[in-house]
Order: sequence, then structure tokens, then C-alpha cells
Amino acid sequence: MPSTTFTMIKPDAVQNGHIGAILQQINEAGFRITAMEMTRLSRVEAETFYAVHKERPFFPDLVAYMTSGPIVAAILEKDQAVDDFRKLIGATDPAQAEEGTIRKKYASSIAANAIHGSDSDENAQIEGSFFFGTRQRF
Ligand code: CMP
Repeated sequence: MPSTTFTMIKPDAVQNGHIGAILQQINEAGFRITAMEMTRLSRVEAETFYAVHKERPFFPDLVAYMTSGPIVAAILEKDQAVDDFRKLIGATDPAQAEEGTIRKKYASSIAANAIHGSDSDENAQIEGSFFFGTRQRF
């Protein structure tokens, strides 16, 4: 049964011109885009989105980086969307990511790692709602 995940193409990948190639790879892997928006996060939005990491040493850098330029947020639908999308994007640290994954191809560091993917069905709902509220489906 189709399930959903949430993704963001992060500022480094947008800045480097990779939106098109990344969306094509997502589509070719069998995901359907059910909502999408190009936007820029405010500081408060980034702090809220990443609140779970607020005690981590990298939190200030993460917020600064995620507000440094536009991002593309999207909701994706597929069977086993969360797990399959995490395989498609690869490990958080691009140095550990498998060949052919989105992070291996487009990410430059663990901080500027090109793309986000939800880590659970519950977080996919929370994160999707953060951007799209109740209007994500058509
Ligand atoms: P993501 O999994 O999308 O969401 C949390 C982000 O925090 C993660 O991507 C990385 O971009 C960032 N992050 C995780 N660990 C580190 C780290 N050790 N140093 C800097 N950034 C990190």
C-alpha cells in the first residue's frame, strides 16, 4: 500500500543547480510527488523543524546552513516510502554513502548533504504537515 515520506532539497544542492537531476532520480525510483514548494526557511522555521537536534553541537551551524538559501520541500508517495527513500539518498555523511545515491552524487559534507529524508512514518507526517498542512494531496 502506498505510504508517504517528506523530503527537502537543501540549499547546497539548489545553489549548485541540481534540483532537476535530483527530482528526475526521485521519479525514476518510483516515487510520485504529491506536493512541492520552493521556499526559504526563516530562522524560527529552521529551529522548529530541527528542534529534535537543538542540544546537539552542530545545531547553530545546521540552522545557519538551512536558512542560507532556498530549498525545495516535497511530499513523496510510494510503497515503503520512508525506507526506500533513505536507501535512494544514502548515508547522512556523503563519505559513507553508497555509489549512485543522491548524497554520494551531490553532497559535499555531512552538514551540506544535499537532501533530507524522513526517518519514520510518524516524522514523515509531522514534517509534511509542517510545510503543507492539510493541502498536500491532489
Ligand atoms: P538530516 O538527516 O536531513 O537532518 C539532520 C541534519 O543534521 C543532517 O541531515 C545533517 O545535515 C546534520 N548533521 C547531522 N550530523 C551532523 C554533524 N555531525 N555535523 C554537522 N551536521 C550534522
